[in-house]
Amino acid sequence: MTETHSKRPARKRCCLHRPVITILMLVSCSAAMASAPDDRWKDSSLTSDARAQALLATMTLDEKIDLLRTLAMPSPSVIARRGSLPASAGFVWGVPRLDIPPIAETDASMGVANIGHLRPGDEATALPAALALGASWDMELARQGGVMIGSEARSKGFGIMLAGGVNLIRDPRAGRNFEYLSEDPLLSGRLAGSAVAGIQSNGIISTIKHFALNDQETGRSVYSVDMPEAQMRESDHLAFQIANEIGQPGSVMCAYSRVNGEHTCQNAFLLTDVLRGDWKFDGFVMSDWGSVHSTSALTAGLDMQSGADLDAKEYLGTELRKEITAGKVPPALVDRAARRILRTLFAHGLIDRPPTTGVPIDYQKNSEIALSQAAAGMVLLQNEGNLLPLSSRVRGIALIGGHGDIGVLSGGGSSQVIPVGGAKLEIKLGEASFASMVRRTYGGTPPLEALRAAFPQAGVDYVNGKDRKAAASLAAQADIAIVLAEKWSFEGFDSADLTLGEGQDELITHVAKANPRTVVVIEAGNPVLMPWRDKVKAIIMAWYPGQRGGDAIARVLSGAVNPSGHLPITWPAATDQLPLPVLPGTGTRLALDSVTGTGLDAKPFSIVYPEGSDAGYRWFDKKGVKPPYSFGYGLSYTAFRYRSLDVTEGVTPSISFSISNVGHRTGTDVAQVYAKRPNGGRRLIGWARVTLKSGESRRVTVKPDLRVLADYDTMTRRWIVGGEQVKIEVSHAVDDPELSRELTIARQFLAP
Ligand code: BGC
Repeated sequence: MTETHSKRPARKRCCLHRPVITILMLVSCSAAMASAPDDRWKDSSLTSDARAQALLATMTLDEKIDLLRTLAMPSPSVIARRGSLPASAGFVWGVPRLDIPPIAETDASMGVANIGHLRPGDEATALPAALALGASWDMELARQGGVMIGSEARSKGFGIMLAGGVNLIRDPRAGRNFEYLSEDPLLSGRLAGSAVAGIQSNGIISTIKHFALNDQETGRSVYSVDMPEAQMRESDHLAFQIANEIGQPGSVMCAYSRVNGEHTCQNAFLLTDVLRGDWKFDGFVMSDWGSVHSTSALTAGLDMQSGADLDAKEYLGTELRKEITAGKVPPALVDRAARRILRTLFAHGLIDRPPTTGVPIDYQKNSEIALSQAAAGMVLLQNEGNLLPLSSRVRGIALIGGHGDIGVLSGGGSSQVIPVGGAKLEIKLGEASFASMVRRTYGGTPPLEALRAAFPQAGVDYVNGKDRKAAASLAAQADIAIVLAEKWSFEGFDSADLTLGEGQDELITHVAKANPRTVVVIEAGNPVLMPWRDKVKAIIMAWYPGQRGGDAIARVLSGAVNPSGHLPITWPAATDQLPLPVLPGTGTRLALDSVTGTGLDAKPFSIVYPEGSDAGYRWFDKKGVKPPYSFGYGLSYTAFRYRSLDVTEGVTPSISFSISNVGHRTGTDVAQVYAKRPNGGRRLIGWARVTLKSGESRRVTVKPDLRVLADYDTMTRRWIVGGEQVKIEVSHAVDDPELSRELTIARQFLAP
């Protein structure tokens, strides 16, 4: 064969030969393929599929297998392969012989992560917790945030962002809720999809993760969520499905946990039937880091074993080679996975235009997006006597606790972003391996500094709140006392309960006694109990507000920003209001242990969610349980009224109404539309987010996503919608409707 020969005849000769696969055959086949030049993959006028196919035909088996796994802790020789790319979660190895570049991966949802300072000195714009974005209900803001973090990732040399956390929030104790968006499939799916689309607009890939039902951390490597198919389709899967449609992610990350007994990363139902069969996903599936348990994952639909060195074996590496040699795994499966990876890299331009490092970043500009998201996500929970916004005549402000003189708190774990300006305080979780990388981290604009800037006429003094008497005495001397309450959440752990802890309830009670004009601002990744709720005048949920969090808090307090956040999760009175008052697996080993490889002996257990498809508010609504703050709730410094509800019936119904700002300042409203089926609870079917000046009105039309209201029929494998009259409500929160009307939805069947 000369250099100009096409290699295709050679491939036919050796690869279509039947039936026995021998090492000899493979070696000679690979060699023949490798030696035959075929440059068609370089032709950018061809489709990504055609280019991937051509490239695949040029590669050896070893080169293909090299694409199928990444390492979390690479050896120096592997690092050499990475070249100048930055250290982070891992990198796809590329094909050096063919100049196919390695592609670096980074965590992700709140910015370019740098857990444990893998890249010393490197900082990135830190967005607020995903839950704050959830509270904004703003798809455009989600997209803008995605565009921004994706551009930073690319400028730092990353081609894959491990973003798009779209697990539904089922339990307010779960440690990673701050990385997720809401308890509602429509809200989560739309926001995650928008963020992913924004990230990928930079010519890079984003994941959506963790597919599926990995809704708590405790025992995440061993538990199985046992749930009938229809229930998962109508809840967690629907969030992924919508995110996939809107975001078209290049990759889906399967989870640590199991679904109906099978590990999600070797679950053919999830990865092949649902993802590829029903949703037509055409990217590649990567595992979570240390979540693969056998080579059969490849057959089930996994394409890449991520962090393979965290698993018991390199299943999609050394083990795969052995099994192919032994004739146990057909090489075609390797081709399938490698083709999916390559076509995705082509489709996102990563082979033609791989990211390079050191591209300048306009951090000043990017921080404005962090500020917008933080401000839009603040939820004003209580405002007795309209204490807020604080008067510009306020003279003395006592700021107490929450390390408010240093910065704001962020959620911990793989998503940790070291904010621009650096981490100002880091408290390690522990000394052992991964635990030493998980740090309670404070950074960004300190609330103290931001308040001083927002209230230049006032004296703003700070005490850390450790000494309750000192705090109460400072509060007593001030016009206003502001307590920054905080609770840290982090990957790998769930909270035992919903208490704030660290003596903060007592602190708030003391301060409120000393100064009746007390405001509590909560920095947390979940709702918390508020035994002091009636003793304080105002409460703001700030979530983990990101690097401009201090500024956003000050602006909401001063009124420069009119709060418009609405709860994306139900705020329960106590854990006994939850479907599972005791968190499943309580007392089992922690998930974090399994990441370090020491918890694999934890005993498997099963989680059965009594609420089934009715996560969050749907459960509260169905059971008639009244939480202190319901889903969708959030106050404003102005007021909105709805009128003139019209519905268009038929196959694609629409709902129109007018929103008026009847208060005295400009504000943003999130008008929520719920539907109630004859025998069911309320479900969010759409919403309108509008900014109106005082006295202004706007007519809006909401087109519902009917799958939210449908039953998934497992026999016929489709959604069955309508054929019934539902009650439509236009509401300020799920339990606060202002308009309602009956709507007949035509009976119809929708594709799965
Ligand atoms: C997390 C993933 C993350 C991965 C890589 C895992 O522990 O579950 O969300 O993307 O680590 O850092």
